[in-house]
Amino acid sequence: MITVTVCVGSSCHLKGARDVIERFSKLLAEHDLTDKVELKGSFCMERCGEGFNWQIDDEPLTSTTCEDAVEVLRSRVPGAASAAGADDEDPGRQEDLP
Ligand code: FES
Repeated sequence: MITVTVCVGSSCHLKGARDVIERFSKLLAEHDLTDKVELKGSFCMERCGEGFNWQIDDEPLTSTTCEDAVEVLRSRVPGAASAAGADDEDPGRQEDLP
């Protein structure tokens, strides 16, 4: 089980943490990963600064946009990469597919 934790403290909330949680939740459901990845919120991670903070297991991460965070999640979580014909908001990725 992989644990993805998104800070929902006030600073990160203002920088888009809520949108990220919604995107992560949708992505995990689309890829049938909800039994492999636990998505949680946390209070302030005490790393307030640029972007919003989140982590995969114990690895601290900071992203400045929702799209950045989604790309990182896709690259780090097995099975979360886009599949051909995936109905997400990033059609440019399909150029890499055979
Ligand atoms: S509010 Fe997210 S690290 Fe402080």
